[in-house]
Amino acid sequence: DNLEQSYLFSTIARKVREYSEAHPEADIIRLGIGDVTRPLVPAVIDALHAAVEDQAKQETFHGYGDEQGYGFLHEALVGYYKTHGVELATNEIFISDGAKSDLGNILDIFGTDNTVLVPDPVYPTYVDDNVTDGRKIIYGRTSQENGFLGMPDDSVKADIIYICSPNNPTGAAYTREQLKAWVDYAKKNNAVILYDAAYECFITDPALARSIFEVEGARECAIEICSFSKIAGFTGTRCGYTIVPHELEREGMNLNKLWLRRQTTKFNGVPYVVQRAAAAVFTESGMAEIQANLDYYRQNAKVIADALDECGVWYCGGKNSPYIWLRCPGGMKSWEFFDWLLENCGVVGTPGVGFGECGEGYFRLTAFGDAEKTKVAAQRIKAAIQTL
Ligand code: MLT
Repeated sequence: DNLEQSYLFSTIARKVREYSEAHPEADIIRLGIGDVTRPLVPAVIDALHAAVEDQAKQETFHGYGDEQGYGFLHEALVGYYKTHGVELATNEIFISDGAKSDLGNILDIFGTDNTVLVPDPVYPTYVDDNVTDGRKIIYGRTSQENGFLGMPDDSVKADIIYICSPNNPTGAAYTREQLKAWVDYAKKNNAVILYDAAYECFITDPALARSIFEVEGARECAIEICSFSKIAGFTGTRCGYTIVPHELEREGMNLNKLWLRRQTTKFNGVPYVVQRAAAAVFTESGMAEIQANLDYYRQNAKVIADALDECGVWYCGGKNSPYIWLRCPGGMKSWEFFDWLLENCGVVGTPGVGFGECGEGYFRLTAFGDAEKTKVAAQRIKAAIQTL
């Protein structure tokens, strides 16, 4: 495997920059990168301010904290996981500056002779991280026929299995029963599942799992990586966490201890003020306020989905997910549709093929935009597609 010349979202940013330089009059609406637009909620802002004041006073000043995070944030997360029926110990949770870092860093505790199973299409960093390290990658191909949800194949042998649910880019999400099949497969093959739960907060369907640890047996075969970016708008504030259960052992080594060793050596923790802000997400007012933002994005997803319904375009996601994954109309390929959409609608999206070969002919729009602009974009897309 070769590393792509540049990261997908950098390529898109460059193309959009070039287009707007050539067309300064164009009113461009960005529904490409999955970056949030709503500001941090009041509960989080209050906690940030208070934490800044703590740092100003001798008695409450904080220097180095534990690399794996403060107890108050571990406790808050233990409480959050309890609400979806998952019991965690505080020292199974490791606080970080975000899921993207941990998804790459966690590979430090795995040998480069491990074989990796990556769904196609999926968030491009999984592939890039492993290509950089030189691991063998097997692609779990998905398609419209299986709803872009791959299931285990006994003829495939892998040591590390990536699962992203709700999926980025397709928005498809696994039920608990489907995840149980993955857990059984991982245990049979002595594999470890790296479960990316960054979009769990968008789940409303009770049949879908919010955490892999809702599934029996997952504590012996899975690591969960999650983020405050999507649940609480921390894309610019930076905070995430990784859960490594105590039961998880491979080749006589305890992966929780190994990850602690790695983090204490190479990482010095997330800023105290940021961890205070993150803990505030799980207070009563924090939870109510973030729900209002999540509902705002859900409404955007509905606006886009309704427009696609009206012009008969196939899509999945948009429910239980902030991403809408559509089939490019008129038989266009992914990058062809990217250019067409930019030129005809002034709308930026993400070409499906950027997430893997199986994404060719598909396209991703995000619901994280401004509501008014999303409405305008949806109208423009509908009108332009209807002329095809
Ligand atoms: C995306 O658009 O896929 C996001 O930027 C992914 C991320 O959170 O890094």
